[in-house]
Amino acid sequence: MLTVSKRARDIRYAIRDVVVFAKEIEKKGKEILYLNIGDPVKYDFDTPEHIKNALIKAVRDGSNSYSASEGVLELREAICRKEKKDSDIDIYSNKVMVTNGISEGLQMLLGALIEKGDELLVPDPTYPPYTAYMKFFGGKPVTYKTVEEDGWQPDVNNIRSKITDKTKGIVIINPNNPTGAMYDRKVLREIGDVAAEHELIIISDEIYDKIVYEGSFTSTSSVVKDVPIVGLNGFSKVYLMTGWRLGYVYFNDPEDELNELQESMKKEARIRLCPNTPVQNAAVAALDGPQGHIKETVGKLRLRRDYVFKRINEIEGVSCTKPEGAFYCFPKVDAIGSKWKNDKEFVLDFLEKENVLLVHGSGFGTTYGAGHFRGVFLPPIDMLEVAFDRLERFLS
Ligand SMILES: Cc1ncc(COP(=O)(O)O)c(C=O)c1O
Repeated sequence: MLTVSKRARDIRYAIRDVVVFAKEIEKKGKEILYLNIGDPVKYDFDTPEHIKNALIKAVRDGSNSYSASEGVLELREAICRKEKKDSDIDIYSNKVMVTNGISEGLQMLLGALIEKGDELLVPDPTYPPYTAYMKFFGGKPVTYKTVEEDGWQPDVNNIRSKITDKTKGIVIINPNNPTGAMYDRKVLREIGDVAAEHELIIISDEIYDKIVYEGSFTSTSSVVKDVPIVGLNGFSKVYLMTGWRLGYVYFNDPEDELNELQESMKKEARIRLCPNTPVQNAAVAALDGPQGHIKETVGKLRLRRDYVFKRINEIEGVSCTKPEGAFYCFPKVDAIGSKWKNDKEFVLDFLEKENVLLVHGSGFGTTYGAGHFRGVFLPPIDMLEVAFDRLERFLS
């Protein structure tokens, strides 16, 4: 009898796991409204034409071989320019690694960083691969509180109280998935102070850095200057290249404290050969070319955010903080815990009765995420209208 590893068998990824249930309902001939996955390209957003053309040109011009494992130099240099402009950091291309999406970068990072029993502080609620990969590598994700009443800002005292001698670092996801919170400069500075005090690294995921609706985004690297920072970013969301799979990791590390980590990640990069070569060429065009689509995308999304925010808060027993960035709402449903045993039951019941797929909040965080659901506000307003009419009917 073939046995499989426990680490793989135990993987949970709520965002895609719920799709299994939706597919079952589809088999019965029902049409499902999918509000579960954060992929703008599945709705009425598309990769900008000049980026598509750059990919086609790269393929036509023969950019079809393996590339350097850490990514092509031209792209790493373009990433340094972008991060200088947006995050005020001075790094050379040797401090950048290109990966097949942040997802791969995260896998390599935790693969190199985490030994059995090591701890990493992750927000609750969080983007689930952070906890999933921690467990996969034998580590222990330790969640810290983010405060719904405070627009889901991190509770810095709670972070401090969770530090042990096993803690290796603090994860920041800003703007946040699933809450849509954008973190204050002050909070980022305070997290930086805690990290400095305890000699921890910061892992900062900024994949939604340009999808913001209120105020302006602050990169962790621009305000935290005395802590080694591993930055994660990518092309999926801002450049509408989800299916192309490209991201990067940078090491903002003036004291060279992350050299060994980076060297180990480079070894991991070598055994997976390289990131997609022609897509790397297209990514240079994305960073260096016209940026007009970003304003257009954010403009469209702002209208959808406003619509969803209004609709949710009009429904009795449901409340939501206003998402300031990304494209998710994370409302609380009062009747979870009484009418429905838990948030997963709520989501599956809504799916079965009204054929709309959301994700249960506890899939993002079992303490502060529970009792909530996550929905995307990516679809056009007429589709959102149908979805929220159904939610209103269902809850009434
Ligand atoms: C916070 C966050 N990080 C990373 C990712 C995945 O990024 P990529 O497509 O670059 O693997 C997502 C996707 O939803 C995300 O929300």
